[in-house]
Amino acid sequence: MLVTGAYGGYGRALAVDCARAGARLVLLGRNARKLERAADAVEQAGGEALLYPLDLEGATPDDYAELAARVGEGAGRLDALVHCAAHFPGLTPLEHSDPAAFARALHVGLTARWWLTQACLPLLRDSGAGRVVFAVDPGPRAFPAYWGGYGVAQRGLEALVETLAAEQPGLAVHALHLPPLRTPLRARAYAADEDRLARDPAGFTGPCLDLLAGGGEGA
Ligand SMILES: NC(=O)c1ccc[n+]([C@@H]2O[C@H](COP(=O)([O-])OP(=O)(O)OC[C@H]3O[C@@H](n4cnc5c(N)ncnc54)[C@H](OP(=O)(O)O)[C@@H]3O)[C@@H](O)[C@H]2O)c1
Repeated sequence: MLVTGAYGGYGRALAVDCARAGARLVLLGRNARKLERAADAVEQAGGEALLYPLDLEGATPDDYAELAARVGEGAGRLDALVHCAAHFPGLTPLEHSDPAAFARALHVGLTARWWLTQACLPLLRDSGAGRVVFAVDPGPRAFPAYWGGYGVAQRGLEALVETLAAEQPGLAVHALHLPPLRTPLRARAYAADEDRLARDPAGFTGPCLDLLAGGGEGA
């Protein structure tokens, strides 16, 4: 199982709980030292993890092809791909958003997720029960203002999941809608001491584990 955003608030909690459930993990993130700390947590939970340092902002389709080749050489297949990486610089009106920041949020949150998934499709099919889970934030749909490229990416992810599920009936493709979670991403939108809605991400790994275990239809 490959997890992106693996040392982020939700990705790390998920990786630890997947390790407890017996999954063999590949942890993807751009900071090698933070990845090592996430791997330590996975090991303390009784699991093992391979680390894959990669910056999704600059990674090219060739980089994803290399990643897929290396996972294939190591394991021969990929049972699950869970996308938890996202870039959110903070709430800003579109009119005043930095053009590069808008593009970065859209790329990391949507295009890079697709490029990685595309490269992994053969490995996921070889699994016989391949699963792709996209963490999605329903907040920008409910309250669209100020989420910038991150918010647009969330809406795009819904379309991506529907399209991929329709085209790949042999794969289970899911959007995982998460509630407000107490993570670095959420802290860029709301001051932590005033945020009464945000919850501990460790309490919300269950729905993802259910999807990975085979619960729910695709999309
Ligand atoms: N927090 C919420 O309230 C909430 C609610 C609903 C859904 N979600 C979704 O849950 C998922 C996880 O979010 P989170 O709250 O756990 O956020 P988080 O703690 O900020 O984690 C996001 C992760 O993405 C990584 N990332 C960002 N840019 C990257 C890049 N260029 N290359 C590689 N990795 C990169 C971050 O690494 P760095 O630290 O190095 O940037 C971090 O590990 C996201 O899909 C988000 O949309 C969150």
